[in-house]
Amino acid sequence: MTIENDDQLQKLRRVGNVVARTLKAMGAALEPGITTRELDTLGRALLEREGARSAPEITYGFPGATCISVGPDCAHGIPDDTVIQKGDLVNIDVSAELDGYFGDTGASFTVPPVAPRIQRLCRDGRRAMWAGIRAARPGGPLNAVGLAIEKFAQKSGYSLVRNLASHGVGHSLHDEPSEIPTWYEPGDRRRIPEGLVFTVEPFLSLGADWVEEKGDGWTLRPPEHQPTVQYEHTIVATSKGPIILTLA
Ligand code: CO
Ligand code: CO
Repeated sequence: MTIENDDQLQKLRRVGNVVARTLKAMGAALEPGITTRELDTLGRALLEREGARSAPEITYGFPGATCISVGPDCAHGIPDDTVIQKGDLVNIDVSAELDGYFGDTGASFTVPPVAPRIQRLCRDGRRAMWAGIRAARPGGPLNAVGLAIEKFAQKSGYSLVRNLASHGVGHSLHDEPSEIPTWYEPGDRRRIPEGLVFTVEPFLSLGADWVEEKGDGWTLRPPEHQPTVQYEHTIVATSKGPIILTLA
């Protein structure tokens, strides 16, 4: 969606803050011994306390309030009896609806101890996201975001997953514009209007450039189990610079 008035911005800020605080609390609760279902129950309680509803559940009938993916899975993981272990790389993605507006955020977390290359991957996954966010300028090409992320990934020796894109968000979880590449896509001629609300969520990987569905109808993982991280914010593109809606 494109923001047209301050009331819309306030409502987007509110749901953005709710998903951000939920993600933060779930990340803080991540420790060896907890199951992904217990984490999801915590996330659901935090969303409900604020009057928010899980976006994947109400939009797609996802079997959980939040997506929790334990490596090598990296997206759309179903909360279940999986027990978190030392050394795990875990992605948590929280999206919700509140008062008719949607927010979407995600992050990958490590459960120590993990190898230095995994720690670097996490640090750089966040940097890749910020490189994309900084490139979002009204009037400019939408693919400036993907170009900036691809430049960062290339320079740092990482691959990017190319069959999972960012997306417009606001009136719905997956709003217009759809399929916003987080890689260089010369055929994408779309431009960024003032007030455009969308996610920036590159999947940075140690070698994978695509993911496949695991066989449960939801969970995505790289074919050779290459470690892969995702960091996601919902932003508004404005001439004064991007507004990050999903800060805790
Ligand atoms: Co998300
Ligand atoms: Co998203």
